[in-house]
Amino acid sequence: MKPKLCPVQPSNYATVASWPESAEATQRWAGPGVPFPLPPERFAQVLELEVRPGWALLDEQGVCVGFGQYWMTATDTAHLGRIIVSPRVRGRGLGRALMQALCARAQHEDGVQHLTLRVYRDNAAAAALYRDLGFQQVDASSTPELLFMQRTAA
Ligand SMILES: CC(C)(COP(=O)(O)OP(=O)(O)OC[C@H]1O[C@@H](n2cnc3c(N)ncnc32)[C@H](O)[C@@H]1OP(=O)(O)O)[C@@H](O)C(=O)NCCC(=O)NCCS
Repeated sequence: MKPKLCPVQPSNYATVASWPESAEATQRWAGPGVPFPLPPERFAQVLELEVRPGWALLDEQGVCVGFGQYWMTATDTAHLGRIIVSPRVRGRGLGRALMQALCARAQHEDGVQHLTLRVYRDNAAAAALYRDLGFQQVDASSTPELLFMQRTAA
């Protein structure tokens, strides 16, 4: 059975919050200003789940093994962020499954023609995954630290 993408539940917050191992990893995953450790009771507020809905990737046993969000940044553009897989199960295809499922959801939103994301230039694993899924860097919107990437919705 394939892992499946479901709306993130409060019971998943502590699990996801436990994955980044340092303040730096937290910032690289979720952006500046996100505390480390991220208290589960602040998870929804800090990640703005009300306006940036969160999605959990569940394995066959219903265990949360991945997390991501997307939100509209223009009428035709959904931006993906906070992509993360449990460190215990990385390198087994779950990041790809998470991204494929999240992209599929995002591009079914009304009017979505473009998917975008940001990734640190030195995040080789994530950048390779995104390129493999068809995201291309947009130099004009990138910075020395962060690549801005875009793909046309399929
Ligand atoms: C990025 C991340 C989500 C990838 O998850 P994963 O489950 O390990 O990824 P997968 O096993 O599905 O691998 C998919 C592709 O990613 C790339 N990849 C994964 N690990 C890699 C590594 N260590 N080095 C280089 N490329 C790697 C490869 O292109 C791989 O495809 P392949 O298996 O055909 O070679 C995971 O490393 C993670 O959670 N990192 C910490 C949080 C983070 O950096 N998020 C990104 C924020 S923009």
